[in-house]
Amino acid sequence: MTQPTPQSVSPITSHRSHAATTGASEAELIEQIGQLKAQLRQNQAMASLGELTSTATHEFNNVLMTVINYARLGIRNRDDASRDKALSKILEASERAARITSTILAQARNRSDAMEPTDLVALVQDTMVLLEREMNKYRVSVATEFAEGTAKALAAGNQIQRVLLNLLINARQAIGEGGQLVVAVRNSDDGEHVEVMVRDSGCGIAQETLPKIFQPFFSTKSGPDESGKGGTGLGLSACKEIIDSHNGKIRVESSVGVGTAFTIRLPKAS
Ligand SMILES: Nc1ncnc2c1ncn2[C@@H]1O[C@H](COP(=O)(O)OP(=O)(O)OP(=O)(O)O)[C@@H](O)[C@H]1O
Ligand SMILES: [Mg+2]
Repeated sequence: MTQPTPQSVSPITSHRSHAATTGASEAELIEQIGQLKAQLRQNQAMASLGELTSTATHEFNNVLMTVINYARLGIRNRDDASRDKALSKILEASERAARITSTILAQARNRSDAMEPTDLVALVQDTMVLLEREMNKYRVSVATEFAEGTAKALAAGNQIQRVLLNLLINARQAIGEGGQLVVAVRNSDDGEHVEVMVRDSGCGIAQETLPKIFQPFFSTKSGPDESGKGGTGLGLSACKEIIDSHNGKIRVESSVGVGTAFTIRLPKAS
C-alpha cells in the first residue's frame, strides 16, 4: 500500500497514527470515532441553525418592508378599497412573519427532535417560506405537488427540515440562474411510507460521481457561493445519516444536463 501524501491524510488515518503513539486499542479508537461523529452531528445542527437564522432574518426583513409599504399606502389612500387592500396585505405578511419566527424557535428549542407523527406537507410549506426570497433571487420557479390524503410520517420534524433545507439548497445551487424546482409529497406505493421528492432542472450529476455524493466531505463546489452557502461536502452525508436513523431511505436519480431528483422515504406514523 502506498503511503498517503500529507494532504490526503483522512481524519481516521491521523487517528491511527495517534494510536500508534499512545497505544490506544481498536475498541478505544472505535469509541473515539463514535464521539467525533456525535460531535460532528452537533456542530452540523448548530451550523444549520445559524444558516437558518440568517436566511430567516433576511426573510423577516423582507416581510417587514411589505408591512411598512402597505401601511404607508393605507395612510395615503383614504378610500375603503385601498385601505382594505392594504390591511389584507399587512395581515398576510404578518402571518408569514409569524410562521418564519415559529420555525426558527422550533429549531432553536429542538422542540420536535422527538420522533412523532409529523405532517410533511406542513413541514415542506414552512421550509419553502424560508427559501422563497432566495428562490426568487435566482429566478427559480417552485412548484409543489401535494397528493390528497398524505399520511403523517413518524419523524423528528427538526431533523427532516434540515434534510429538506440541504436538498433544496443543493437544488438551487445546481440550477444556477433560472430553472424549475418541484417538491412533491405523497404516500408510497407500498402504503407503509410517506415520500418527499425534490426535483430540479439543474446541471445533473455524472454517473461516475453518483456513488460518491453521500460520502462526508465529497463536494464539487469550490467553496461557499455568494449567498454564503455550500462547499463543505457534509450536506448529503448528514441527510443520509438522519434518514437512516429514521429507518428511512434516500435515493437519487440524475441525468446530466436534465436535472436531479432526490426522494426521501419515511415510515408512516401508525
Ligand atoms: N441537486 C443536485 N444537483 C447536482 N449535483 C448535486 C445535487 N445535490 C448534490 N450534488 C452533488 O453532490 C455533492 C455533495 O453534496 P453535499 O450537499 O453533500 O455537499 P455540498 O453541497 O458540496 O456542500 P455542503 O456541505 O455545503 O452541503 C455536491 O458538491 C454536488 O456535486
Ligand atoms: Mg449541499
